Amino acid sequence: MKQSVKFIVGNWKMHGVSAAVSEALALKEAVDASPMCRIALCPPATLTDRMRAALAGGRVELGGQDCHEKASGAFTGSVSAEMLADAGATLVILGHSERRAAFGETDALVAAKAEAAIAAGLEPIICVGETLEQREAGQAVSVVSAQVEGSLPDGLSERPFAVAYEPVWAIGTGLTPTLEQIAEVHAAVRAAIVKRLGEAARRAPILYGGSVKPDNAAEILTTPEVGGALVGGASLLAEDFLKIIRAA
Ligand code: 13P
Repeated sequence: MKQSVKFIVGNWKMHGVSAAVSEALALKEAVDASPMCRIALCPPATLTDRMRAALAGGRVELGGQDCHEKASGAFTGSVSAEMLADAGATLVILGHSERRAAFGETDALVAAKAEAAIAAGLEPIICVGETLEQREAGQAVSVVSAQVEGSLPDGLSERPFAVAYEPVWAIGTGLTPTLEQIAEVHAAVRAAIVKRLGEAARRAPILYGGSVKPDNAAEILTTPEVGGALVGGASLLAEDFLKIIRAA
């Protein structure tokens, strides 16, 4: 099914202090001046509240980059979904490959975090993607399909959510899969979503992430089943991010 309105999400990762709020403001002004696709920014948790103030009354949505799977408790250093929502977020990225690799997040943990997110009223963006080793072994489709099936909790079936396909080897490297490879995996992700949650989940957008830049965004975004983009480095400066948004 064709997604008519693309969803473009910026993941700032561990970048940005107060001065970076000006980039969000520049983005807001440009986006609010002319209607564009659906857009969200996911800054570090420390900037959420300030970004809420900067983006108030505009169309740019605000998200977190992770949340804890529990609502509250003795989890030093963690941020709950409710805290993100309280600070102004309406969505949250979960299961990013950097968290799966560096913090040992499993599919089951990602599913538990997604349950926590929807309980707090947040829209989860659940990330999946194969490593280079897995792709070279011909396992990209099977690995990604298994991640989708394991990371999407039952509770998502009636809720808005998105899945992001981010090949680990394409993140921050300047490398991207061919359009055929993107189409192949997105079709498999769609099949896995529908198998897991039923036909109603066919409407959930599947974003592509991994070295999306102003010069490759247009062709990636017109690939079948690509409902948007999850953008890292090129979302840090409003000028670059706007070029991607305008390509959507
Ligand atoms: P880059 O766009 O910097 O490759 O990062 C992609 C990503 O990991 C977004 O979540």
